[in-house]
Amino acid sequence: MRMPDVTEPFELVLFGAKGDLAHRKLIPALYNLHVDGRLSEQGNIWAITRPNTEQSAYIEQVKDWVRKLGAEFDEKTWKAFSQRIKLVGVDLYKAAGYSKLAKKLNASGNPVVYYCAVHSRLYPVICEQLFAHNLITEHSAIVLEKPIGNDYESGMVINRRVAEFFEESQIYRIDHYLGKETVQNLLALRFANSIFEHQWNQRYIDHIQITISETVGVEQRAGFYEGTGALRDMLQNHLLQLLCMTAMEPPASMEAESVREEKVKVLKALKPIVGADISECVVRGQYGEGISEGEMVPKYKDEPGVDTHSTTETFVALKAQIDNWRWSGVPFYLRTGKRLAKRACEIVVQFKEVPHSIFEMQHKKTMANKLVFHLQPDEGVSLQLCEKRVGNHMQVRPMVLSLNQSDQDKNRVPEAYERLLADAINRNPTLFLREDELMTAWQWVDPILNHWQTSDQRPDTYTAGSWGPAASTLLLAKDGRLWEENS
Ligand code: BG6
Repeated sequence: MRMPDVTEPFELVLFGAKGDLAHRKLIPALYNLHVDGRLSEQGNIWAITRPNTEQSAYIEQVKDWVRKLGAEFDEKTWKAFSQRIKLVGVDLYKAAGYSKLAKKLNASGNPVVYYCAVHSRLYPVICEQLFAHNLITEHSAIVLEKPIGNDYESGMVINRRVAEFFEESQIYRIDHYLGKETVQNLLALRFANSIFEHQWNQRYIDHIQITISETVGVEQRAGFYEGTGALRDMLQNHLLQLLCMTAMEPPASMEAESVREEKVKVLKALKPIVGADISECVVRGQYGEGISEGEMVPKYKDEPGVDTHSTTETFVALKAQIDNWRWSGVPFYLRTGKRLAKRACEIVVQFKEVPHSIFEMQHKKTMANKLVFHLQPDEGVSLQLCEKRVGNHMQVRPMVLSLNQSDQDKNRVPEAYERLLADAINRNPTLFLREDELMTAWQWVDPILNHWQTSDQRPDTYTAGSWGPAASTLLLAKDGRLWEENS
């Protein structure tokens, strides 16, 4: 039997325990950790829900979630897992629920991690109440889900308020993309191999594309998404974090501060996109009706809870530049959207063509080397090289070397939240964001948000099931390039 990842007893207090994130990601991840024997036996999950929720009804609901989304299900394991879950009804603004929680947590005496899977405007309220009920000690930690705030200003207000109650070392700002196996493999490939470092710069790399495409629409999350949109929901955090991991200098060690220091340098070196550059370099779209995964789906404005005049973007693509020696002149094209042709997440590092070809190459440009990190649906890495076509003629053709992570051993690749939940409980902050990272990211996207708010230009409509608006294709075509269409 392997040693659990979380060896010490713990109390995990989950605010938003009935919400979408708890349902889709957090509870299944905790269940998987439990199934794999990776959680200390003395670990409780305090599910915070609205008062009047019945423990037995909640447990039934959770059973349904893990049955559908957990790694494997059997009654015996489920029973043991369900005993970890304790429901506490709390009205987040009122003292009563917190007093109940305090009694229960004080009785255990174990270190507590508060996980805020609720809207970020509630973070200050939760902190105030925890403090008022003596629920914060030097052994507590708090995990904050993204997006923290709606822009630079509101992000700053929330951070400052939380900092009145928790030290920076106790605050875990989560971005689950950093917990994905391939993102960590990106670090391993970049910094455990010497062959890439010499090529990893503007002399050899033509451009980089980072895509997170989803086939789902807004689902039941219009209440959150209408005021958020793709720029705040995905680009300000997930895409920029992937960009940092790809572009950062080698950190001195894997210690949290070394890694965070290098990431923040990248964010600070991002060339601001302001004024006329916004229309030139940023595309926003909103899905219209269309066929997604074989089914006719409605346009965004017809989704339940969405305003029929909504200008919320469900797609964003942009061209970013990093003003430093390594990356000067190398565009980073980022895009994300809902209801796109395929669910995928990829980082494509497109190398330059050879300076002079001695071979007959029909499609010289498409034959340039390409390193692709596939984050989903399958995790792995592929490298496009050229080889001689077998036969009498000296003809060269592209070939792909693939490294599939699930082939490495036959174990299941853990979900990002499994890794990050264990890290937060173990108090390892390496894969979490420091305050200055978050604020620098907000500072960079703020001018785009302001421009959209004040302009009467609306997002371009794109057909559900496509690769987004035509302007997105044009963004690269203007530079003589094409998106890697995730084929
Ligand atoms: C979340 C966003 O952070 O990431 C969602 O709020 C999005 O809108 C989700 O669907 C995508 O995560 P994953 O891991 O399923 O790609």
